[in-house]
Amino acid sequence: MAALNAQIFIGNIIHSKSRDELEVLENGYIIVVGSKILAIGLEPTLNDAKARLSLGNKAPVTTLSKSQLLIPGFVDTHLHAPQYPNCGLGYDKHLMDWLNTYTYPLESKYSDLELSRRVFKALVKKTLDYGTTTACYFGTLFNESCNILVDTVVDQGQRALIGKVNMTKGAPDNYLEIPVKSLENTREFVKYVQSKKSNLVKPIITPRFALSVDLDMMKELSLLAKCENLHLQTHISENKEEVELVQEQYGMHYANVYDEANLLTQKTILAHGIYLVEDELKLIARRGTSIAHCPDSNLCLKSGACNVRQLWDYGISVGLGTDISGGTLPSVVTIMRLCLYSSIHFSFHIKNYQPLNYEEVFYLGTLGGAEALSLQKEIGNFEVNKDFDALIIDLDTETGLDYLLPCTPRELLQKFIYCGDDRNIINVYVAGRLVK
Ligand code: GUN
Ligand code: FE
Repeated sequence: MAALNAQIFIGNIIHSKSRDELEVLENGYIIVVGSKILAIGLEPTLNDAKARLSLGNKAPVTTLSKSQLLIPGFVDTHLHAPQYPNCGLGYDKHLMDWLNTYTYPLESKYSDLELSRRVFKALVKKTLDYGTTTACYFGTLFNESCNILVDTVVDQGQRALIGKVNMTKGAPDNYLEIPVKSLENTREFVKYVQSKKSNLVKPIITPRFALSVDLDMMKELSLLAKCENLHLQTHISENKEEVELVQEQYGMHYANVYDEANLLTQKTILAHGIYLVEDELKLIARRGTSIAHCPDSNLCLKSGACNVRQLWDYGISVGLGTDISGGTLPSVVTIMRLCLYSSIHFSFHIKNYQPLNYEEVFYLGTLGGAEALSLQKEIGNFEVNKDFDALIIDLDTETGLDYLLPCTPRELLQKFIYCGDDRNIINVYVAGRLVK
């Protein structure tokens, strides 16, 4: 039989098997049927695999050149879709001032559905161009606008978690909701996403942070997440002033506020987590809750430095977030690089600190992100039976120098992490479908 929609990829393949195991298949193959990976191995065994899967010889074959690599798609575990037009703006401010001066005024404009359509179309395209096959989005307060984000993601074929944001206090009146309405609208949004019957797009419950919703609201939202078995996302411990305000308003540590509201679950991802104290780290680890590390945003808003190795030491799962427009660019490869740089700074200040290496940040941007979003059974690397979310990257788009100065696959990966951008990302696949 010629299997339905079979495709074969041959070339150098790199993926993370775990945080400390990078698998490099020099001259490897992957067989994809429909959305799924059915076989992976070294090229001399390809014919055996084809026979075992009764593939025949009709499946199209993509053969990579020596300067190309096949790698898993990137996972952006934290970004704000409506903030895309603000990238690069307001970094003379710190978080709270930035939110009030730049962020809330922009987000409040998204009752304009034409604005929503234009921005979301451009952003989803840009993230796919940058190799983000899975994105975990904060939307806006407005259902119609969030529905447009859902439609756009479905249209362009990205995998995503999408949240309608909840805010009932701590912002200008034109960008707040009445609690009852906020809940009702969230239920409606969840139904809207579910009505799409997409295997790729899921709703995520999204209270903005402890300063924009109260405990009762958080409790209602966590109950909804529990009843519908949904993901949850919010921000935690990003900025010193914010942490002090939370302590003042609730009389307890930041993580304890969320725990009191039952928001810390295995399907919860918390952005930043810079100033967490030992008890909070232990609590977050015990609950199986993950952190989205956002080094670009942490630097631009001068929020602080997040110690990823310490989070790992406590057993907390970590992914990477571009956090636009706290961050400058919706590019996970850029965040991998900034993650390396910000980790190197720790080694200047902490004795015997091992800065993260390129293999570890590659893990963070792929399998680590999938684990942080509890999607590791579906995506994150090239294990058989996972969906084929993948990138073909090319490190020699300019000079043809690969013939004169050939690089090993590991060297190509390092070049990409340190020097690469969207121009090096030639093809992008989500669930077997070519989307760039
Ligand atoms: N905390 C609450 N809202 C936001 C946001 O939009 N961006 C960042 N970086 N932090 C937040
Ligand atoms: Fe954020």
